[in-house]
Amino acid sequence: MTEVVAEVVSTDAADWWRQAVVYQIYPRSFADANGDGLGDVQGIISRADYLAALGVDAVWLSPFYPSALADGGYDVDDYRDVDPRLGSLDDFDAMVEALHARGIKVVVDIVPNHTSNRHEWFQEALAAGRGSAARDRYIFREGTGPDGSEPPADWTSMFGGSAWERVADGQWYLHLFAPEQPDLNWANREVRDDFLKTLRFWSDRGVDGFRVDVAHALTKDLSDPLPSTADLLALPRGTGNHPIWDRDEVHEIYAEWREVFNSYDPPRTAVAEAWVETHRVPLYASPTSLGQAFNFDLVQADFDAAQFRRIIDANLELAAKSGSSSTWVLSNHDVVRHATRYGLPPAEHGPDSRPITEPGRAWLLTGGVEPVLDRDRGERRARAASMLLLALPGSAYLYQGEELGLQEVADIPAADRQDPTFFRSPGVSVGRDGCRVPLPWTEAGESHGFGAAAPHLPQPAWFAQWSVEAEEGDPASTLHLYRRALELRHRLQSGEHLDWLETGRDDVLAFRRPDGWVNVTNFGSTPTELPDGEILLASEDFEGRTLPGETTAWLRS
Ligand code: NOJ
Repeated sequence: MTEVVAEVVSTDAADWWRQAVVYQIYPRSFADANGDGLGDVQGIISRADYLAALGVDAVWLSPFYPSALADGGYDVDDYRDVDPRLGSLDDFDAMVEALHARGIKVVVDIVPNHTSNRHEWFQEALAAGRGSAARDRYIFREGTGPDGSEPPADWTSMFGGSAWERVADGQWYLHLFAPEQPDLNWANREVRDDFLKTLRFWSDRGVDGFRVDVAHALTKDLSDPLPSTADLLALPRGTGNHPIWDRDEVHEIYAEWREVFNSYDPPRTAVAEAWVETHRVPLYASPTSLGQAFNFDLVQADFDAAQFRRIIDANLELAAKSGSSSTWVLSNHDVVRHATRYGLPPAEHGPDSRPITEPGRAWLLTGGVEPVLDRDRGERRARAASMLLLALPGSAYLYQGEELGLQEVADIPAADRQDPTFFRSPGVSVGRDGCRVPLPWTEAGESHGFGAAAPHLPQPAWFAQWSVEAEEGDPASTLHLYRRALELRHRLQSGEHLDWLETGRDDVLAFRRPDGWVNVTNFGSTPTELPDGEILLASEDFEGRTLPGETTAWLRS
């Protein structure tokens, strides 16, 4: 038996986040109260009882700020307002009140790497011209070539195409993501101060925490001459001085944020979206920086015992290094839903065991032609993996719809697609719309109960079967499983600690949490005998004490 222990164990009110179940709401696709096809804040309020019955500790809202939706709201026009199509600040306050009244904390997404190109600062920068203070809030450069008509460097944006865009007077600006998302210059004091103001603005409105978008990209070394893409790729990441990613000095920014967080009681929390080398994660998760960082390892893993075991051990150790708690994620708004990934052939892995292609994405590119996808198997494995995830020490981040076992929508017509990835990388990526289709609340009716109008992304007919209404009526549904699992987790959760148990099988993982809570997951297809103990819950029905394949059981021993 081996033991993995995280350093800090506390149930203090200020530590609510350490073992919280956080439910990600993608606001435009959650519930549409005003019938315009887009989800909104009143829609969230109308489903507050659903969230309470599910048993989540917190919700994390993806951006709800005014935006042209060039990148699903991650192109923010104004950081201190609500998109009028989604509601008003009064609606936001009412939502916080409704959620708090049900014991649910509120985490909002903060997008500091880039504004939208409609943000008043960017509009000022365009009008003010070269060399102005307004341009210094962003990253403007002269072009190359005899007439400056070539970009300052050959860099490719994350969504495909050049990372530089030319403006009318001939200068170029940097956008690591879409052209509608100009990167901010974090060496500029005004930029820093304005974000401190934004953090206080939402904290004063009762927000409990922040999810920090692209947390590892804010500070950049753009001194001339700019490196080429080949140079950038050749430079090691994880040293703290890569020109673009994960530079040490980014934590000076977060130290200032920390002062703001800690000036509230309880302190506001933050979780970093930081795609960095493993050994760098504790820097973001440290209590002097953001305090917690996402671990996306399970998102990239197959349904495979050895991969899960390695990832769990590595991340508990990492969390112990920073004194933070680990975070566990199977799905979010950027990846193919796990119920679908697990119904596909496993990803191809490179020599370092990382997947070569993002699991599931290649299948989507082909239009998601069945029978490659085995939906039943995908959902069965997803239920088993989700139960395992919920038994781990640390916080569990759930993505809206996974509690229904919802699958990815593969066949969205090109004319309906919204993700910039689809438009900027033709034939390479279909983008992320397939996991962002509005939730089905009812079996029939306009937009399956999402709202009174056609939803902004089309829902397939099979959504009926995965609707909340259909699952409410089926005691064996994934929705009921999640509710029971969350309720049990609340009662059983204590200590941030697990002990691995010997199973005698490579494809079966078992571990014990404090107070005798045991999780057994059979990743294989051959049944396995359960250890002693009362069976509390299982991801599938079975007789006796023989756990079928692709199933998780919780026991108390
Ligand atoms: C990460 C977000 O999760 C993703 O949806 C977004 O496109 C990029 N950051 C850019 O903001």
